[in-house]
Amino acid sequence: MHPLEQLRVEALHEIGSASDEQALEAARIKFLGKSGSISAWGEQMRSLAKNEKPIVGKLLNEVRNAVTAALEARAANFRSQKESEALARIDVSLPGTPYDIGALHPLTQMWERSIEIFRRMGFSLADGPDIEDEWHCFDALNTPPEHPARTEQDTFYLPDGRLLRTHTSTVQIRTMESVPPPIRVISPGAAYRNEEIDATHAAQFHQIEGLYVDENVSVADLKGALEFFMRELFGAGTDVQFRPHFFPFTEPSLEVYVKSKAIKGGEQWIEVAGSGVVHPAVFEQVNKARGDEAYDPEKWSGYAFGLGMDRLAMILFDIPDLRLFAQNDLRFLRQFA
Ligand code: PHE
Repeated sequence: MHPLEQLRVEALHEIGSASDEQALEAARIKFLGKSGSISAWGEQMRSLAKNEKPIVGKLLNEVRNAVTAALEARAANFRSQKESEALARIDVSLPGTPYDIGALHPLTQMWERSIEIFRRMGFSLADGPDIEDEWHCFDALNTPPEHPARTEQDTFYLPDGRLLRTHTSTVQIRTMESVPPPIRVISPGAAYRNEEIDATHAAQFHQIEGLYVDENVSVADLKGALEFFMRELFGAGTDVQFRPHFFPFTEPSLEVYVKSKAIKGGEQWIEVAGSGVVHPAVFEQVNKARGDEAYDPEKWSGYAFGLGMDRLAMILFDIPDLRLFAQNDLRFLRQFA
């Protein structure tokens, strides 16, 4: 037997009995590595006699190919063995891993529906900070220093004298300060009051403020807009009632009540908003802050409203307790997915 053939027998035997990938790699290096014993024959070719060269050359190729093929076959063997071992550890009879699909909070859904309705009426979005100064929250809104809403019993004051806004009406002022009339904006956001917390009262609640300023705006426009909004939201069979009220920043002022046959639990009148025609004193305050007469009360008039989002969501989704909105109980939240 030619020594090369001898090497082939040895190599194939070693490859066949390699117990793992390391042993296989050791065999590869031993026979086919740079200084492996089969590779060494390649070096020796030069010193062979001329007539021997083609015979040994051919044999060397055969041996090299056979050993390479055996190495590859064995390596593939190890790989598939590993895979089936990994698979063997998977219990295909186990139930799958469930994953939760997120959903929007009912209040967020309420906001999105409302904003969409007001957009169709030509309102755009305005914004303002939750931490406010007394001027934007009260003085500019014609609320005198002795007004009960300003006391610490109702308002959360910060040590530096600023406060958490008690309503989103602050955005009326901020919007008018920055742009001249006409204006048609809504502003969704949180408001804060030092309330005794129960099923219908929370220290943080949510409103959509609305402000429309133009020439010849009247109570009729206000009623039309809010009636349209309520019908769009609650469907046909919805009644809206306006009851006289008092707000320092509107005159006349109206509380808005809604009742809807289309809604479960919507059978009785529920108060959902404050509203009214913008008081001329508010325009005067804004003019003073702006340093111009952009909001001349002789020329411009407007209406404003503040919709209670939590109340509206409670009616729309038939939710009995406001506190559920903030408790993050998945059993509650899942119902709105
Ligand atoms: N800001 C009032 C409230 O929170 C609601 C309101 C807004 C009333 C705009 C009139 C006009 O109670």
